[in-house]
Amino acid sequence: MRYPPQILEEIRARLPVSAVVGKRVRLKKAGREWKGLSPFNAEKTPSFYVNDQKQFYHCFSSGKHGDIFTFVMETEGLSFPEAVERLAAEAGVPLPKLTPEDREEEVKRKTLYDAMELAAQFFEASLQGRFGMKARDYLAGRQLSPDTQKRFRIGYAPPERFALRDHLAEKGISIEMMAEAGLLISGEDVKVPYDRFRDRVMFPICDVRGRVIAFGGRAMAADVPAKYLNSPDTPLFNKGRLLYNYHHARQHAHEKGTVIAVEGYVDVISLSVAGFANAVAPLGTALTEDQLALLWRLSEEPILCFDGDKAGQRAAYRALETALPNLSAGKSLRFAILPEGQDPDDLARSGGRTAIERVLASAKPLVDILWARETEAGPLDTPERRAALERRLRESLALIRDETLKRYYREEVESRLAGLSPDTRGNRFNRQGGGGRRDFRGPAPTTPSARLSVSPLLARSPLFTGGTAESPREAMILCAFLIHPELIQKHAETLADLELEGRGAQMMRSLLLDSAASGEPTDQTVMQARLERAGLTQAAEKLTATVRPGDHWMLDPHADPLRLEDALRQAITLHRRARTLHSELRAAERALAEEDNEANLAWLREVQNQLSSVDGAEADMDKNGSGGGAGF
Ligand code: UTP
Ligand code: MN
Repeated sequence: MRYPPQILEEIRARLPVSAVVGKRVRLKKAGREWKGLSPFNAEKTPSFYVNDQKQFYHCFSSGKHGDIFTFVMETEGLSFPEAVERLAAEAGVPLPKLTPEDREEEVKRKTLYDAMELAAQFFEASLQGRFGMKARDYLAGRQLSPDTQKRFRIGYAPPERFALRDHLAEKGISIEMMAEAGLLISGEDVKVPYDRFRDRVMFPICDVRGRVIAFGGRAMAADVPAKYLNSPDTPLFNKGRLLYNYHHARQHAHEKGTVIAVEGYVDVISLSVAGFANAVAPLGTALTEDQLALLWRLSEEPILCFDGDKAGQRAAYRALETALPNLSAGKSLRFAILPEGQDPDDLARSGGRTAIERVLASAKPLVDILWARETEAGPLDTPERRAALERRLRESLALIRDETLKRYYREEVESRLAGLSPDTRGNRFNRQGGGGRRDFRGPAPTTPSARLSVSPLLARSPLFTGGTAESPREAMILCAFLIHPELIQKHAETLADLELEGRGAQMMRSLLLDSAASGEPTDQTVMQARLERAGLTQAAEKLTATVRPGDHWMLDPHADPLRLEDALRQAITLHRRARTLHSELRAAERALAEEDNEANLAWLREVQNQLSSVDGAEADMDKNGSGGGAGF
């Protein structure tokens, strides 16, 4: 005897998965789901998800998936009947008595996995059987050889309504289980459940461990309403969470150092045949965030190779949008562009390995695709249109969560935008400023637009948001520029983009940049006059007083220019690094306050360590500085 399904349903309804799992795993709300560290694998970033509506959990790191019953079976080593008893007691649901024989039976009970595996075998056999001729011809027509068919376990679902159902019933699989596995069309309004897949070429979809958990079925005739019919979501299968061929591709991706994402099953298979076994595909939907995460597990820069048509391009743009918030240093996407009207399958068959290689080698970085998407919309021949473009780009960049990366994207986009305007084409600043002050001849007169082009950068700076006191490093950087204005030209963009804490430093920066943009020859006397005119002499003195004694040599107008530039560059690098780390520190502290666990603690420690090593570097600079400094 089995537990009646209504009883199991009753228990599931009373015990949310998050409640059962929550006793063992610290869960955090993530949208409609819960998220936590995998109980099956040691990990630092949570990849374990719980969905109360769907009544299941899914663990990306181990590929384990199931409901409350499998969870206690897996984590506490209970048999199924034991798990049911435990949870029934917890839920207050009375159970019918089980005999020892019943228990044994239950343990041996076929699982959903068994049902799927038996179905896959049945489809494979049907393809080879008497009635599989049409499907074999179809596959031959698509140049998918018998070897390839075996490797991908391609099969054929016969046209009869009950072929699979009768076969599985004979093997001891219940109708309920077939329905749960998504193999039957069933439901209130269906009197007699019947096979979901009929007269289709079958592509099994496997989980990360290679177990069959779903199918995609392709119609052979062109006039069938759905070209591909896929399994519905089941306790084993969630289509947004998986990639076709992931289990095969994983190892090859590691070997090749990259992974290729295409749109269709057949594309994956054709690429594989052509020598690119590191190919995967989403399952008939736009690439989801979960799928991107899977791709990034295999490679830092997965290559998306979508069809060379409008739909493929739209899919690429959607993927770009999904990727933006999740990009970080080194972690991105590349986009391979296929010839017009071709998909990877067409190209592999017409051009073979070399054609694919060529397309992959010229894959474009994400920033190019972003730029293409925004500039394609229409002509950019008026200031208004260029301004609209700038706004769209800003909105996209705002999605990037990684601050460092966002800064680099801004830089890149700014310079591309500058290249569009007729009168700022080329360099915003005269870059020939040279290494040493001795041969510095002052900037060529700059156009008014050069001056204008500085202001958006300034507007972005925290200048008008108020500020607190400057750090000694901040003061040192600004003072070095004040005393050595000849350096400004060369470092203007860096200076404009620097995140400054103190108000004095911010005002000084704005003065420095204005004087750089004015085109007047700049030396120390001119600088002093400007300070006076702006009423900033006192502020400059205050800033100078904040500079560490060890850095005072930099304020000597006769300091060695090479050494000066070196020190300045190092200080700017450290400053940026410290700023990034400080915001990361705040994030880590917040995370730990929200959820006091090992991973968050480890994160905080890591950031603290890195910060103290930045401070250590500064102390070194102190030492070196005071050793050789001439004093001020
Ligand atoms: P395509 O329409 O690009 O098909 O859909 P394809 O891969 O080129 O297929 P072939 O070569 O004609 O056989 C790409 C993917 O979108 C999903 C499937 O996963 C398919 O592989 N899809 C497509 C569906 O789920 N249902 C459909 O009706 C069509
Ligand atoms: Mn195709």
